[in-house]
Amino acid sequence: MFIQGTLLITGGAGYIGSHTVKHLLAHNERIIVLDNLAFGHPEALPQDRVTFVQGEMADAALLDRLFTEHSIEAVLHFAAFAFVGESVTDPLKYYRNNLAAPLTLLETMQKHGCKQFIFSSTCATYGNPQFMPMDETHPQEPVNAYGASKLMLERVLKDCGTAWGLRAVFLRYFNASGCDLDGEIGEDHTPETHLIPRILMAITGEIEAMTVFGTDYPTPDGTCIRDYIHVNDLASAHALALTYLRAGNETTAVNLGTGNGFSVKQIIDTAEQVTGHKVPLNYGPRRAGDPPELICNPAKAKAVLGWEAEYKDPRSHIESAWKWITGPHKGRY
Ligand code: UFG
Repeated sequence: MFIQGTLLITGGAGYIGSHTVKHLLAHNERIIVLDNLAFGHPEALPQDRVTFVQGEMADAALLDRLFTEHSIEAVLHFAAFAFVGESVTDPLKYYRNNLAAPLTLLETMQKHGCKQFIFSSTCATYGNPQFMPMDETHPQEPVNAYGASKLMLERVLKDCGTAWGLRAVFLRYFNASGCDLDGEIGEDHTPETHLIPRILMAITGEIEAMTVFGTDYPTPDGTCIRDYIHVNDLASAHALALTYLRAGNETTAVNLGTGNGFSVKQIIDTAEQVTGHKVPLNYGPRRAGDPPELICNPAKAKAVLGWEAEYKDPRSHIESAWKWITGPHKGRY
């Protein structure tokens, strides 16, 4: 009988990583999490069910030890910096962490013959939208160092495929949101910049008010439209990407979104309905680099991975995030 190997999950103590760990554990996977805890939270992991290693993916000696001691079958690579604005003002930090550091991981994989890689890529690799909804054929012309660092790693992975047979799935996420439906784990970023948590933080009083960045966009209500993808749907996509690689399939890129767009105002209205509270609001200018609309065409994810978003209505994202923020953790580990 073939016994599946261990999965190495970088950044597994972070927001999307920890939700994916929970999902994979429910499918009886064996998991090592490597996380430097720059942004991750060890409390987000069931310590009795995963091997947790605090460390850097650029630490060649540590990685060599992990790959020697464990039979690592595939790597799921979440660890990255993801503040778009910061990537514009401090690009080298992003190229160092998101591009250079994983090279050590890849060198170790090559040395130990581990050839399966699932990569947390992003719709930010596309840059300004040229058509909508966006599919995987959309030109990739990132407009910030965050998107560029992710696109460059996609290229590195392809070249490793040509050279030594690495096979990868690039999962290009749209707007990740929502939390674990049990309220056990959730989204805890410092600083928190994302729309749904900031709306809820304004309601609980953790921040004074939420600022709407721009009301003069060429959209029906003047605010930006995004495709919000529930973190549990991202988690299930990772599991299906693993099945895809285990079946021997070749490197591919897949967009992950629902195919539906919602405006900032619609999200605020929904949050008011879900929570029964008014959101304290300010109205500010546009945030630099925000396109008016980003909507995913998820057809390839269905065709190639058999994946489809289950939580298509952002109401469920807000409900689960509200459960996390009002639950025993109060939104913080
Ligand atoms: N927004 C506000 N006020 C806030 C926060 C956000 O009005 O306080 C608006 C933004 O302007 C945007 C929308 O809400 O229109 C969503 O913003 P988020 O910051 O939640 O998400 P982004 O679309 O900026 O970023 C996400 C990911 C990035 C990724 C990017 C790709 O977080 O990692 O999508 O476009 F790069």
